[in-house]
Amino acid sequence: MIAESVLILDSHFAENNNGQDIIEGLSKTPKTLPAKYFYDNLGSELFEQICQLSEYYPTRTETAILTQYADEIAQITGVCELVELGSGSSTKTLILLDSYQKKSRNCQYFPVDISSGMLSSAVSKLKLQYPGFLIQGLSGSYDQALNYLQSHHQQKRLIFFLGSSLGNFNELETEIFLGQISETLNPGDYFLLGIDLQKSPAILEAAYNDAQGVTAAFNLNMLSHINQRFRANFNPDLFTHRAIYNQSKGQIEMYLISQENQHVSLKDLDLEIDLKKNESILSEISRKYKLLDIQNQLLNKKIQTLKIWSDSQQWFGLILGQRF
Ligand code: AVI
Repeated sequence: MIAESVLILDSHFAENNNGQDIIEGLSKTPKTLPAKYFYDNLGSELFEQICQLSEYYPTRTETAILTQYADEIAQITGVCELVELGSGSSTKTLILLDSYQKKSRNCQYFPVDISSGMLSSAVSKLKLQYPGFLIQGLSGSYDQALNYLQSHHQQKRLIFFLGSSLGNFNELETEIFLGQISETLNPGDYFLLGIDLQKSPAILEAAYNDAQGVTAAFNLNMLSHINQRFRANFNPDLFTHRAIYNQSKGQIEMYLISQENQHVSLKDLDLEIDLKKNESILSEISRKYKLLDIQNQLLNKKIQTLKIWSDSQQWFGLILGQRF
């Protein structure tokens, strides 16, 4: 059952998704698949496991930065309506909410997530932990949530987008997304963005090719998810996972590599594809940033950087921007 404090802006993407994006991706050369298909129940669980891996430094690094500076962030912004994009089951949220609770017991918090189930249980728990807070979950795409929030603007607002999730958007998607963020903020409002920074390829590649094979399982699970959803017959055993750092583009690229010549049918999509031995399907990009570049991108969208926090190795950055 969905908690009444979750507003369904749209049913789960799966229910009204006709797979057009899969048809487009698999008809291209080289082939691609949209990263959103990672996240069925098992995929979300595997992602939680990735976040705990010793090689996958982003989660613990960002958590450490937040732990150190959350009070300062709350101090700079003052009491705000808090909006979190892609809230999931995140423990990072609690660090920020604790700091804002010290400022006021009656804050407003809007977690946004595509998965209404995960959102509903997160909201129920948070309501017990922060009894004075007005917590309203928004279940839908970022697009839908930002649209909703544009027409429900009551007080000073902080939108936060953590975990370097921005890195999974391509250039055009980033441009559109940052534009929407900007439109959802009034002058004086804030944007807190967590981003993974450029570093040695060895560290990056280890983070996406972990020794236990959890990232491989996460990548391959996309094929099982597509099988279930669209009556396809990918055999995950006939694919391997590989992640490489493309230095010229500053991005990790995750591939599913066909181990033999094979034919795959996607019945519900009326699609038949052939894959050659060693042919790869790009399943995800994860962009790594230079601080100056992202600051300029934000500036182009009328968001001025106020402060940047990082760890001692400069592996991860937390940018607080203000809309002007
Ligand atoms: C969700 N996103 C920020 C993760 C990343 O690092 O790009 C997804 C991920 N893919 C493989 N490992 C983690």
